[in-house]
Amino acid sequence: MAVRSGFSSRLGFVAAAAGSAVGLGNIWKFPFEVGAGGGGIFLIMYLSFCFLLCFPVMVAEIAIGRKTQRNPVGAFKVLGFPKWSIIGKLGLISGVLILSYYNVVAGWAFGYFIEMVMGNFSIGEQFGDYIKDVVKVGAYGIVFMGTTAFIVSKGIAGGIEKAAKLLMPTLVIIILSLVVYALTLDNAWDGIKFYLVPDISEVKLEVIYKALGQAFFSLSLGMGALITYGSYVGKNENIISSAVLITLADVGIAFIAGLMMFPLVFSQGLPPNGGPGLIFVTLPGVFGSLGGGLGVFIGSLFFLLLSFAALTSTVSLLEVPVSYVVDELDVRRTKAVWLVALVIFVVGLPSLIGNGYSAMFTNFITYIGDENATNFMDFVGHVANDSFLPLGGFLISIFAAYIWKKPSFYGEISKGYPEFENSIWSKYLGFGVRFLCPTILGLLFILTVLDRFFGIVIIAG
Ligand code: TRP
Repeated sequence: MAVRSGFSSRLGFVAAAAGSAVGLGNIWKFPFEVGAGGGGIFLIMYLSFCFLLCFPVMVAEIAIGRKTQRNPVGAFKVLGFPKWSIIGKLGLISGVLILSYYNVVAGWAFGYFIEMVMGNFSIGEQFGDYIKDVVKVGAYGIVFMGTTAFIVSKGIAGGIEKAAKLLMPTLVIIILSLVVYALTLDNAWDGIKFYLVPDISEVKLEVIYKALGQAFFSLSLGMGALITYGSYVGKNENIISSAVLITLADVGIAFIAGLMMFPLVFSQGLPPNGGPGLIFVTLPGVFGSLGGGLGVFIGSLFFLLLSFAALTSTVSLLEVPVSYVVDELDVRRTKAVWLVALVIFVVGLPSLIGNGYSAMFTNFITYIGDENATNFMDFVGHVANDSFLPLGGFLISIFAAYIWKKPSFYGEISKGYPEFENSIWSKYLGFGVRFLCPTILGLLFILTVLDRFFGIVIIAG
């Protein structure tokens, strides 16, 4: 087996994994999912899922990756359970599907950077036309996928780490400044109320399901991205504290993105359930209202940093299928990178043209039982993020708890954290992987299948 180039330091791993986690999921997707899911109630479900269900899965992924030093398919073979590499295969499919449309949205964000540089603050009102302009957004998509591929081809320590360390903190500072600014606007507090005060009547199976998908998506879990990243982590590192840092960074940034968005949305008199256009419609006007020079500066910086946040995520998404092709199919890294990137770009074409340009992909009728016409991108999101990721998490927890089993699993964690087995963390983790994840993820999966395919509604909605 080839010697792996590791991360240069502990902070390097945490920064890269947090860079993977923090992305469009936090700043673009999270606010509109909260908006569509009824506000505060979605926030509470999302937070609970992150800490109770996702955290144990995250630890398991990192431990499996570090133990085996492999990609998500090879990892299970190395551990001696080749049948379970189905988890990795499912993960590969999820990764390809997610990156295929994620890259499209990343291209939109990057294009907004250019619009802001040019002082085009009215782009928000033309968002519909903007995403329909497939030549333009297609070109941005090519630039974005190309940059991602270039970074991945440079190998893990060289590219990913460095960018993440500097840019994330800057992004946080801008968002916090916008939170402060947003709170001075009219009706801002209605937005805060919507965001933070839960309305129990909004609990619906669909919302639970979305919140769960969002938790996995946001933390980059359930498809082996952290198995891959974990494979580059040193044996003397503390997996638990790394996972805590990654989770807090990710959840924290999503949370402040919400604090920023809802006051802005309410102050502009827009409906909070504006869907995927939410940030793209709302923010340019806000930057415009800051006045010429300042608006250009803050606006372009914001979308530039958002593009970087997306880039550290696309890098991790591409790394998974690439590490599979390199390890298992024995293809040279550079070749694997460009080949996989090309395939994913092509898989993403229906998502690219399914936002107004192509009627067929814009009104893509989805799975059985859904009366709403959904565009291709939403459809892929439904399948990949909301269904495959939690399913992957379910299988990973069962694998760690009942197949790989406690002595091996805990032994791996203990390598960088000798007191682990006597700590409260081992109980929390044990309860999570053995009980909470299998039952709750399993139950939600069954409920959703019953609801969707058999019309048996247990949680009304
Ligand atoms: N977590 C990223 C975001 O919130 C997206 C992402 C990157 C991802 N890598 C992943 C999602 C792996 C699932 C699995 O933007």
